Amino acid sequence: MKSAEIRQKYLQFFASKGHQIVPSSSLVPHGDPTLLFTNAGMNQFKDVFLGFDKRPYSRATTAQKCVRAGGKHNDLENVGYTARHHTFFEMLGNFSFGDYFKHDAIHYAWELLTQVFKLAPEKLWVTVYAADDEAYKIWNEEVGVPAERIVRIGDNKGAPYASDNFWMMGDTGPCGPCTEIFYDHGEDIAGGPPGSPDEDGDRYIEIWNNVFMQFNRDEAGVMHPLPKPSVDTGMGLERISAVLQGVHSNYDIDLFQNLIRAAARETSDSDMESPSLKVLADHIRACTFLVSDGVIPSNEGRGYVLRRIIRRAIRHGYKLGARQAFFYRLVPDVVKEMGEAYPDIKTGQDRIAQVLRTEEERFFETIEHGMGILEGELAAMAQSGNTVFNGETAFKLHDTYGFPLDLTADVCRERNVTVDEAAFDAAMARQKEQARAAGKFKMALALEYNGPETTFHGYDTLNCQGTVYALYKDGAPVTQLNEGDLGVVVLDNTPFYAESGGQVGDQGVLQGAALFQVEDTLKIQAKVFGHHGVVKTGTLKVGDNVTAKVDTEIRARTRRNHSATHLMHKALREVLGGHVQQKGSQVDGDKARFDFAHNSPLSAEEITRVEALVNGQILQNTATQTRVMSIEEAQETGAMMLFGEKYGATVRVLDIGNSREFCGGTHVTRTGDIGLFKIVAETGVAAGVRRIEAVTGDNALALIQQQQDVLAQAAAAFKAPVGEVPAKIAQLQDHMKALEKELAKLKSKLAASQGDDLLAQATKIKDVAVLATLLEGADVPTLRETLDKLKDKLGSAIIVLGSANGDKVSLIAGVTADLTGKVKAGELVNFVAQQVGGKGGGRPDMAQAGGTQPKNLPAALQGVGAWVEGKL
Ligand code: SER
Repeated sequence: MKSAEIRQKYLQFFASKGHQIVPSSSLVPHGDPTLLFTNAGMNQFKDVFLGFDKRPYSRATTAQKCVRAGGKHNDLENVGYTARHHTFFEMLGNFSFGDYFKHDAIHYAWELLTQVFKLAPEKLWVTVYAADDEAYKIWNEEVGVPAERIVRIGDNKGAPYASDNFWMMGDTGPCGPCTEIFYDHGEDIAGGPPGSPDEDGDRYIEIWNNVFMQFNRDEAGVMHPLPKPSVDTGMGLERISAVLQGVHSNYDIDLFQNLIRAAARETSDSDMESPSLKVLADHIRACTFLVSDGVIPSNEGRGYVLRRIIRRAIRHGYKLGARQAFFYRLVPDVVKEMGEAYPDIKTGQDRIAQVLRTEEERFFETIEHGMGILEGELAAMAQSGNTVFNGETAFKLHDTYGFPLDLTADVCRERNVTVDEAAFDAAMARQKEQARAAGKFKMALALEYNGPETTFHGYDTLNCQGTVYALYKDGAPVTQLNEGDLGVVVLDNTPFYAESGGQVGDQGVLQGAALFQVEDTLKIQAKVFGHHGVVKTGTLKVGDNVTAKVDTEIRARTRRNHSATHLMHKALREVLGGHVQQKGSQVDGDKARFDFAHNSPLSAEEITRVEALVNGQILQNTATQTRVMSIEEAQETGAMMLFGEKYGATVRVLDIGNSREFCGGTHVTRTGDIGLFKIVAETGVAAGVRRIEAVTGDNALALIQQQQDVLAQAAAAFKAPVGEVPAKIAQLQDHMKALEKELAKLKSKLAASQGDDLLAQATKIKDVAVLATLLEGADVPTLRETLDKLKDKLGSAIIVLGSANGDKVSLIAGVTADLTGKVKAGELVNFVAQQVGGKGGGRPDMAQAGGTQPKNLPAALQGVGAWVEGKL
């Protein structure tokens, strides 16, 4: 039975038992910053188990895409070394939300396995949580599994509830005891039954985990009963496919065999057993699906895990002989295998391949060098018998050659060598420290402060009283700042917004006995704000009372830009798709800048649609709403949040227009306050990341006025109405082209007429006429024509002609047939071309080349005589 059929049969079986078939959720768990990637079928139902979310069904079944790499559940290191570990896999699951419990769950599982999939009951073993007599009895007395094939597993991981048979999604959240079903692959395979000392072998493989969700574990480890006992089951599609297809390794199932063949095709590898092919087959699935769900290779968070997987794959391809991008060519093979079940990868196919290709090409630039260093070190270690790879070298490989630590470790593992990870971490920490010291980071944080926190009033007012808590000059605390001093001021109360969440810090003044001009506001600690600026008049002392006034105009512009950014984010997702994720943003008084995951430039039409959607929201003039709530409540609202952001226990949820996001920034009161939104630039900033810059309000008006002015000037120059400017430009361009053509013809004619004069320049070297000269202004056809003429006239001859047009050098070399045995035109032309920054090629009797350094051309031509003499 093919994997696709197994997936279908599973879903249909549970649909026939009243389960709703729910589509797989994204690999990027929106709304849950605690989770790196979706790693189990139950993730999308977490809040349903906890009772926070209600669905119109109480039974569900899914085929869920999962990635277990980089996060709490991490299998990356094992891929390629075992028969059953994957970075990406599909989990088949059935779920009961307060509906059936242990009895039905166990009976359904047994019925499916033995009656639909027709597995022999004696091949199946089960485990139950040691204390779960109820599950034990159901298996033994109702289903009839003999006692010798039911294993009770207790808390075998060193703490209460820490057990192979007690499943938790993470440190917190829904959890409960479970019963697992194992398949015995037969005595030919090494390994013992679950619970035995050699259970890690490949003979007894867990195929299905049925979790009886009963508790919500809090941060202190306390178990709170769930509102209703529930069921969460998970069966790896790859594992059950192996069983049903009568093979012992997941990599031998239909789906993987096709991908392994594809990987062999792209690497020209002939050893189908090579573990590297398995790695490629596994990794291409993870990469295809991750990119499809909006992840882009980068240096942090999810993007870094993706980069690690891609680079690990490339290293294995490199091992098989690949020296240029090849991995991306496997995307269509994944689409062929899985595109039907997951149409997103089909529609995104080109984008996915492009993202992978860019990343590959980048890594291929450094892999050769890095591998040289790595191999050199390993060879030296083999000689000295050392088995611990130097952490400093591993760091250098990481820092200079882009070798993620696990890639280095993977190569080392093949040689039975481990990496000194502690030394790697230390080198990494040292570099960060140096970068910080060199001021690469904006680190107001480095200021020492242990006083009370600042209270921020800037959501409601731009003007308030404050008392000076602390002052700094040159990074050190002082008791006063004098006129002209640059420094930092900490107040007890302030309306100044400190830079965060992409919004710049406020500017303004602090007025009291002294006047302090605030040029920027940055956080010293999470809740301590530093006002950076200069004392304009007087002396500012610790303890002084001041009136803190934010520059209202700049703040109003910043606010408009920030609010527009939210509307733009929403509009981009609507126009381009759900893969659009924020990768960075910066809003200040001049513009809104927004970086997001998307692979190709936006078309003019897409930009127009985004502008129309945002301006549509502005015209609706709806009121902005901000609500402060617990992170759990906020997640429930469905607000967009960013992975990797550290959110506190309470967060601010901002509704503006049709968008809802977590945001601590300052915003307009009604969307209409934004005035007008206009995109000014759309560019690429990194592979797969686009940047939009936009303006709002009076900035947008100024932009339009200025552009209109430019147009009016152009129209005046053409003495034509504005509407006719494009036609006038086209006319002018045509005219120019015609003139250029005419000019080129004339130049060429002129050059051709020089032909006869050139004959006189030929010199004789060992009875051969040699001519190397410049033909000013000649184009390539003229060079060729002149060369032919000269060959005819000179008889036995070697000729090089060159011309320069602007920065471009054209070269042609000709050798008469009687001499090609000694001198090849290709070699000759390259001899000259190399000296003018180019290269070329052609036949032995005629060859052409280009170059970019016209100033070296005369000397290069002069050298021809000597070069030819050496050959004759
Ligand atoms: N959540 C459980 C697991 O991942 C069962 O689906 O094993």
